[in-house]
Amino acid sequence: MKIVITRNLPGTAEETIAKNSHDVWVYNGDGAIPRDLLLEKVKDADAIITLLTDKVDAELLDKAENLKIVANYAVGFDNIDVEECLKRGVVCTNTPDVLTQATADLTWALLMACARRVVEGHKMTEEGGYKGWSPDLLIGQDVWGSTLGIFGAGRIGRAVAERARGFNMKILYTDEFPWEEGERTLNAEKVNFETLLKESDFLSLHAPLLPSTEKLLNLEAFRKMKKTSILINAARGGLIDEPDLYRAIIEGEILGAGLDVYDPEPPEKNNPLLSLDQVVLAPHTGSASVNSRNGMADLAAQNVINVLSGIDPITPIKG
Ligand code: GLV
Ligand code: GLV
Repeated sequence: MKIVITRNLPGTAEETIAKNSHDVWVYNGDGAIPRDLLLEKVKDADAIITLLTDKVDAELLDKAENLKIVANYAVGFDNIDVEECLKRGVVCTNTPDVLTQATADLTWALLMACARRVVEGHKMTEEGGYKGWSPDLLIGQDVWGSTLGIFGAGRIGRAVAERARGFNMKILYTDEFPWEEGERTLNAEKVNFETLLKESDFLSLHAPLLPSTEKLLNLEAFRKMKKTSILINAARGGLIDEPDLYRAIIEGEILGAGLDVYDPEPPEKNNPLLSLDQVVLAPHTGSASVNSRNGMADLAAQNVINVLSGIDPITPIKG
């Protein structure tokens, strides 16, 4: 069977698929596969391994008559029209679990960097601006003993909260479902969105991008947050209204933000958020650890192999 992989992946996924006597075509270009080429290549594909930058929609599915599985190399799947896939009997899979801890680590890297102004300090020291110890140099926010708000207590949100134990933090969360273990072992408290906004010192986003979550973090929300609070987003850029975030920081509604994701990606050069000292930026590297990226490739490959052999995939996306 014919498998299209839209980008060179780390690890041994390609060989694993080839070993199962499938015919693998990999896009070797620099950057995301051009849309035209993807539409051409899916025509006779039985499976595709896609990145979060590849849009899988009705237009693509109409061309892909043999397609049996779309294996997303990501946990998020807002790039896929899952309903259109399922309607056509095409299985969708993602890569949860294998990237949870790496993404939680990066979330904390942003949180710590924002709280203690690590990037500002780095730039200052590098540029010779550090002239000697000073009582008021780069005063930041305490992490220890502060309140961490988790928006979306799924796998990643929970892993972020678990790390807060070491910082004696109070944990608040919003989610559709109660997180009983967190309530029992971390004293995590399920609150409504309003309370989460009002009481968090650090508000960390871990919800999928859905019509119901799109731009939920807007000026109205920022105005409810503490003026000293910091927003962290290693989920999806679309959860935040970016012009509103800029305005909220400039107007002192919140203190700053740590961002791994943007809308659009990459952010446009003239996006004013990029120019703020109070904003720490990462280039969507939440899952970028060796283990995590290898694990994602292996999982995507195994999902493909399973489905093409008539076995259930390991991590299906349910409609
Ligand atoms: C990355 O953003 C992912 O969804 O895996
Ligand atoms: C993703 O794995 C999540 O549930 O947060």
